Amino acid sequence: MNILTFDSDEKLNEAGAGIITGIVQTNRRAVLGLATGGTPVGLYKYIVRDYERGMCSFKNATTFNLDEYVGLPDDHPESYRAYMRQHLFDHIDLPISQAHIPNGNAPDPEAECRRYDDLIDNAGQIDLQLLGLGHNGHIGFNEPAHALIRATHVVELAEETRQANARFFDSIDQVPQQALTMGVGTILKAKMILLVVKGADKADIVQRALRGPITTDCPASLLQTHPHLNVLLDRAAASRLG
Ligand code: F6R
Repeated sequence: MNILTFDSDEKLNEAGAGIITGIVQTNRRAVLGLATGGTPVGLYKYIVRDYERGMCSFKNATTFNLDEYVGLPDDHPESYRAYMRQHLFDHIDLPISQAHIPNGNAPDPEAECRRYDDLIDNAGQIDLQLLGLGHNGHIGFNEPAHALIRATHVVELAEETRQANARFFDSIDQVPQQALTMGVGTILKAKMILLVVKGADKADIVQRALRGPITTDCPASLLQTHPHLNVLLDRAAASRLG
């Protein structure tokens, strides 16, 4: 595990973007696993900057997002499809046909999960999986549970997760109850994991995830078993690591 701590948000975002653009520079056919939420917004800005500077091209890359809400129209501003267009896809040369996000409006969600896993399998191994961290230790939307699920599946969002994400909606009632998420098996199969965490409110869960026991009560703790785990933290998020 490689942990880097940053004093400035800009430096953290720049470093994270640099790792991702570096992968695309060395392998034009890179397969990237992407995340949404508040954490990677600044990092995506630096990817767009590097792209605009001609440092990288995504023409031959393929991307797979971790998750999508169930039941939000595609053009809803808080759908992860809309988020990815706003923060990244509309600003780089990635063909949209190579940018994959689970379809939260599929008539048969179980079939959609199988379709998504087949797409990932057919693309070969994910070269880098970008992750944020939920306050309860979730990665993707793999919430704490007695048992975790390997492949893409439908998940009931934890109340804590809906509350945390209510800041993006007019009220908590509008936050969907369910999502489709990649499973922890798929996440752990990525060649490299890039976990990015910011803020004092995540300091306790960072400590549990990286130093605590490996347990399904804290899905992110499973990342400790990954051979190429890179963690980027701001000082506040790192404050309980000692
Ligand atoms: C997003 C995702 C989630 C978030 C996590 C942290 O695609 O899968 O696991 O990374 O909920 O969200 P933020 O960054 O908003 O604190």
